Amino acid sequence: MKSKFYLKCRKCGYIISDFAAWFTNMQKCPKCENKYAKVEYPGNNIKLKELITDKSKRPESLFYYFDFLPVNNPQNIITEGEGIIPVNRWRFLEDYAKQNFNIDCKVLAYRNDYNLGTGTFKDVAAALAASVLKENNVKQYAVASTGNIANAFAHYLSLAKISLAVFIPQDALKANEAGVGSYGQRVFRVRGDYAKAKQIAAQYSARYGILLSGGNTDPIRVEAKKTMVFEWLRILGELPDVYIQSLSGGTGPIAIEKGCDDIEHLGLFKKRPRYILIQPDKCDPMSKAWEAAKKNGFPDGWESDYPIIENPVTLIPTLATGNPVTYPIIGPIVKKSGGEILSFCEDDAADVARLVAYETAVKIGPASTIAVGGFFVALQKGLIRNGETIMLNIGEGMWRAPELMYQMTYTTKEIDSVDDCEPVDRTIFREKLWKKFENL
Ligand SMILES: Cc1ncc(COP(=O)(O)O)c(C=O)c1O
Ligand SMILES: [Zn+2]
Repeated sequence: MKSKFYLKCRKCGYIISDFAAWFTNMQKCPKCENKYAKVEYPGNNIKLKELITDKSKRPESLFYYFDFLPVNNPQNIITEGEGIIPVNRWRFLEDYAKQNFNIDCKVLAYRNDYNLGTGTFKDVAAALAASVLKENNVKQYAVASTGNIANAFAHYLSLAKISLAVFIPQDALKANEAGVGSYGQRVFRVRGDYAKAKQIAAQYSARYGILLSGGNTDPIRVEAKKTMVFEWLRILGELPDVYIQSLSGGTGPIAIEKGCDDIEHLGLFKKRPRYILIQPDKCDPMSKAWEAAKKNGFPDGWESDYPIIENPVTLIPTLATGNPVTYPIIGPIVKKSGGEILSFCEDDAADVARLVAYETAVKIGPASTIAVGGFFVALQKGLIRNGETIMLNIGEGMWRAPELMYQMTYTTKEIDSVDDCEPVDRTIFREKLWKKFENL
């Protein structure tokens, strides 16, 4: 079967014919050894325009965009309907912006917790990875992960009957470890942080010749996540002005840029989103690097100047990338967009989750609380403008993190008899829940 795509080295432009060639060379450019390649589809992209604009179509998964994903034979598709998720309007945040900052904006929540595989925005990446690996007859795979990608890969690779070795850092959430184990996939819990987990995973890959997922710039992950751009255009008819996401290694923004690159010439959008990316304050090396660069007027080489946080102690291990090797890619993307990299106090994560659940009945997960928290910080810093549409990436739901769920028990009253009870009125909690956000 003739391949509909090829990979192109982002550094030297060398063409790699397909994933078989890319894998044979251990996911590096054969000419310059660079690990960052992009997938190109030399065919006619008019079909993509049709897919995005045809209102009569009812997509069932990200493979709706099959012709623009790096799988050649549809029989190799592994899917559970991920990637086609709702965009909700969160008016309570619009009202807050109006009342407190006199800003008129539209706030949209991109509900990745609705993904049917494992309920995070890693499901699209894992579904495509399972399909690509199946097509290339790969039987063993390895991944280093802070948690969610491990779970998603464990799930989808099980469906493809591929064995997976998962390297998680010491502080990864128990629920993630159990999730991976439940499929019979092997967990290696590394005594150390995510950086050490990545290091041992690379050694394991080299020793046994087993393919290792390529991290935040892995073309498979990027190709899967780029479909969010197509989806926003299909659903909304335009791209949001601002994209807010909690930031670990930055596959999200890298993929959005790739999605925009793919369709630039089709005239489907006026401008790309401005990126507002948020890190938890106990593991925020990119935010620190960004602040310093901004203060110094972005001097030459600013994008390579970043701190490394060894063994970060954070309540949100999903976002615990202490050594931000992708900052030289993410920093310039954010700068070009006119965006910002911020921090949010992670001790306030449970307050955000309670507020969102009270106002919308949506139980968001830890990484998502950092994104919503970032919206509050962005307003306070004057980063949201009148008339803008904001897309908040709700990357995961609360059921991914029982530890956060238990902190939602704030309405309980212990009783012995009916004499201790009175009729309930849930509005009594509202003022208390909002108090925190009056002066962040
Ligand atoms: C729910 C959720 N949100 C955000 C992120 C950060 O993703 P990115 O790779 O774009 O930094 C992750 C994973 O790291 C995640 O699981
Ligand atoms: Zn190259």
